[in-house]
Amino acid sequence: MRIVLLGAPGSGKGTQAVRLKSQLGVAHISTGDLLRAEVAAGTALGVKAKAVMEAGQLVSDDIMLGMLENRLAQPDAAGGFILDGYPRNLAQANALDALLVRIGQPLDMAVLLEVDNELLFQRLAGRAQAEGRKDDNPETVRERLRVYAAQTAPVVGYYRERGQLAALDGVGTLDEVYARIVAAVGARR
Ligand code: AP5
Repeated sequence: MRIVLLGAPGSGKGTQAVRLKSQLGVAHISTGDLLRAEVAAGTALGVKAKAVMEAGQLVSDDIMLGMLENRLAQPDAAGGFILDGYPRNLAQANALDALLVRIGQPLDMAVLLEVDNELLFQRLAGRAQAEGRKDDNPETVRERLRVYAAQTAPVVGYYRERGQLAALDGVGTLDEVYARIVAAVGARR
């Protein structure tokens, strides 16, 4: 299966992708994790990306596409993947389509996790305390949610128009949300 996982910051994409990856035996590709690895390694790209991420903005489309293309070329992605954090705007959605056609791996579906902003704030505040992720402070979370609404939300319509979208309630226990995802993915297999 080749799946795009959509949802606002804190909607549970990363958490649910880890479980789904094991069940489907596919690669979990988180562009946020790829960027954080570059930041931790202190690469030139990481130095550039750090400030952008800490401001809650999007890293440039060119950088992200190059990074994604390299990751999709790794052997574990040949049997399918869950994309978590990409695409984040319409330009990225178009670039992804073109890339997947080129490598002969068309997308099966997009899954959207819907969670209201108040709960997203609560979850990210909890993670800020537990893990200290730099971009989980209230000011940056507000900006990440603003960027999501302005740039990423239109991507939902992009997949809906193609009949590829499963929009799911992302509120509930981890098991409840996961069961909804498994049912939606099962219906497309
Ligand atoms: P990224 O790492 O992708 O961050 P994000 O989209 O903001 O996602 P999060 O990791 O905050 O949330 P999530 O939906 O994965 O939720 P999670 O499962 O972690 O991106 C970070 C930055 O990198 C971006 O701001 C941007 O700068 C840059 N970037 C990345 N991709 C890019 C791209 N394509 N283009 C340009 N720039 C890009 O859960 C959150 C918390 O909630 C956890 O503590 C979890 O335990 C908890 N939780 C989850 N589900 C539940 C539940 N059901 N009940 C209770 N708690 C829950």
